[in-house]
Amino acid sequence: MSHESTYDPQTGIEKWLDKRLPVVRLAYDSFVDFPTPKNLNYWWTFGGILAICLVIQILTGVILAMHYTPHVDYAFDSVEHIMRDVNYGWLMRYAHANGASMFFLAVYIHMFRGLYYGSYKEPREVLWILGVVIFLLMMATAFMGYVLPWGQMSFWGATVITGFFTAFPIVGDPIQTLLLGGPAVGNPTLNRFFSLHYLLPFAIAGVVMLHIWALHVPGNNNPAGVEVKDVKKDTLPFHPYYTVKDGFAIAVFLLLFAAFVFFMPNSLGHPDNYIEANPLSTPAHIVPEWYFLPFYGILRAVPDKLGGVLLMFGSILVLFVLPWLDTSKVRSMRYRPIAKLWFAIFVVCCLALGWLGGQPAEGVYVLWARITTVYYFAYFLVILPLLGVMETPTEMPKSISQSVLKKVSDGTETDASGAAAAQPAE
Ligand code: HEM
Repeated sequence: MSHESTYDPQTGIEKWLDKRLPVVRLAYDSFVDFPTPKNLNYWWTFGGILAICLVIQILTGVILAMHYTPHVDYAFDSVEHIMRDVNYGWLMRYAHANGASMFFLAVYIHMFRGLYYGSYKEPREVLWILGVVIFLLMMATAFMGYVLPWGQMSFWGATVITGFFTAFPIVGDPIQTLLLGGPAVGNPTLNRFFSLHYLLPFAIAGVVMLHIWALHVPGNNNPAGVEVKDVKKDTLPFHPYYTVKDGFAIAVFLLLFAAFVFFMPNSLGHPDNYIEANPLSTPAHIVPEWYFLPFYGILRAVPDKLGGVLLMFGSILVLFVLPWLDTSKVRSMRYRPIAKLWFAIFVVCCLALGWLGGQPAEGVYVLWARITTVYYFAYFLVILPLLGVMETPTEMPKSISQSVLKKVSDGTETDASGAAAAQPAE
């Protein structure tokens, strides 16, 4: 939260710089002495994990670009060259390819955390909207990156996805031609995708800075969903408390990341992408990467092409207006017993949509994709608006400090260690 600066420059050079460009003060006030709710749980470590993911993607990507050739005749071979000839090229490539999956895994957890604890609600609407912008940029970046190795799935994925745009009347065809740089996926497509795939992560980095700025004005939400009332009782300085907690979570996350990179580097990819792109041979099943599957599931649930495309885009656009759709005054679902149940069903539907998106679009799969799609939209457009006015929340703690104290039989309050609290919170 916005607070008085406590930075006190010690050395001559710090004082000199502070008068001219107070970047050290900014970093200190943001990441050292930033008052952070004392009750944050591990779901709050994913923002830091995401920052690490972005750094890993940019570093490995820049190195890959030094050896990659964005031309239809050389792209596939240049990736093989990276894998076999370049020193640690295999590591850079596997870290980058699996890094995209880890990035999406973390961002989905980060977003569902926000949905459960109501982090998108007033006064954090702009923070949430910037998050949705980041998510859209991430999807565009990942889609274009997947085209670069110029395998069969790269080529046919690009053909299918850019084909969506032709569903729009009048503007559809010109948009598709503009995206492809010609009538079909070819060398101009590969070149513009490479150029944009290199550019967009830096745009993401810019929006992430705004995201963190928009976080630091109202301050963190927290599992109890009540605002900070007393900075002394309710918060802890970011360093060392949360630098250590985030650091630990990042280390565990990197272990999982390493397990993929070193032991199963191709498990999340499609084997057809090790076959060079061939415009004359269409693969039996064209499937996107796992992180796009829920949206692919929604697309294919609708029998009409334009309808499917509109619903697919709509499923993300609805997130922009979510802060105004959810009418509940209570932020955290901890104190919303009914909303919690509907949320659990929502999570199951999203997972099911992901699974269904990877199945053939026929029979019972389509039926279930339709049911789960209806629930996805109903959750945002009907259930959350109605629940906010109909549901009776359970008793909320009056403050963050009270939420971490538990009542014992004699009526005094203790902290988690069982020690009596010095000053019972009101
Ligand atoms: C590159 C991607 C992203 C990065 C690096 C990032 C970074 C962060 C960081 C460092 C925090 C504070 C720590 C935490 O709460 O975990 C945060 C909070 C938050 N982020 Fe993100 N974020 C990203 C994407 C997103 C997306 C896609 C959304 C939603 C669509 C989102 C929504 C939020 C919200 C609502 C908060 C406030 C959490 C709270 O205090 O309850 N972020 N983000």
